[in-house]
Amino acid sequence: MYAISIFNNKGGVGKSTLTLFMADFLATLSVRGRPLRVLVMDMDPQGSAAAALLGAEGLERVRGSGRGLGRLARDLDVRNAVDLGDFLFKRPRGVPRGRAEPLPEIGVMVSDKASSFAFEVNPLHRLTALRDGLKPELAKRFDVALLDLPGNIDVRNLLAVNALIMSDALVTPVEPSRISINALPDTLEMVRYVRERGGGEMPAFLGLVLNRVDKRSQQFQRNLPWIREMAAGLGVPLFDAVLPNALALSAATDDRLVCDAMRERYGLYYPHVKALVWEVFRRWHHLPGSEGGEGSGGP
Ligand SMILES: Nc1ncnc2c1ncn2[C@@H]1O[C@H](COP(=O)(O)OP(=O)(O)OP(=O)(O)O)[C@@H](O)[C@H]1O
Ligand SMILES: [Mg+2]
Repeated sequence: MYAISIFNNKGGVGKSTLTLFMADFLATLSVRGRPLRVLVMDMDPQGSAAAALLGAEGLERVRGSGRGLGRLARDLDVRNAVDLGDFLFKRPRGVPRGRAEPLPEIGVMVSDKASSFAFEVNPLHRLTALRDGLKPELAKRFDVALLDLPGNIDVRNLLAVNALIMSDALVTPVEPSRISINALPDTLEMVRYVRERGGGEMPAFLGLVLNRVDKRSQQFQRNLPWIREMAAGLGVPLFDAVLPNALALSAATDDRLVCDAMRERYGLYYPHVKALVWEVFRRWHHLPGSEGGEGSGGP
């Protein structure tokens, strides 16, 4: 299983939105004739990604039952064993009319404030509880886990640090503005800390995704060379594909939006999102140590 954190320490840059795009499109790819089994781990107690996948009421029911990631991490740390089934939920496959490609089934794990806080206030909890206890178990059921991180975390956020330490790679959405790019060193600082505590080079940077792009705007055209230079200076690659600024794309995190087919969900923006997710997929398959193998269904 390959674990990818969607992380930028700046808030509101599109982490949850990108997580949902990646989940939908990765789950439509096949490797060696079998569809990729995709899990979304919503590490943010705000629950934007989990609410979009399970619906606001579905998420409330799960939270009410106390089956969140903070509780799971604590149980792993204390007992070193959990019944994973208690913490796993799913967004079922859509039922479209005719030959339309359905929205795929996605596995979901959620966070809640109470259990995340209970885990984080105890400084004795291990930073590697999720990597050592959870990841091997998840690998029996999923091919890829996408971890939607909260913004504005620091070293005290033990659950978020755990999530980053269990990740093989990072995808970082950024807005193409000076204010957003200038905040990147803070994100890199966190990544350095996590590598040090995890004892290795992981997570690797798959790249920066420019989100909310208006290619025709003067501001974007003026900023792009500077953004490329900054990214190169920080040693972080940029993805070629970008995501446009579009109201329709912002609907990804709308928890009332019910649809069954990929085209219905992504409409005009289907090719944009697919191109980006395909690039993510190719990059991870070129990393040393990944399982290799070619996907199908590319553009
Ligand atoms: N490409 C886009 N076009 C238009 N709106 C977008 C796009 N991407 C994200 N948004 C909107 O921007 C807002 C922030 O996005 P999102 O919640 O995904 O960010 P985030 O980084 O997860 O935020 P947080 O740090 O609070 O978790 C949301 O209202 C979302 O709908
Ligand atoms: Mg978010």
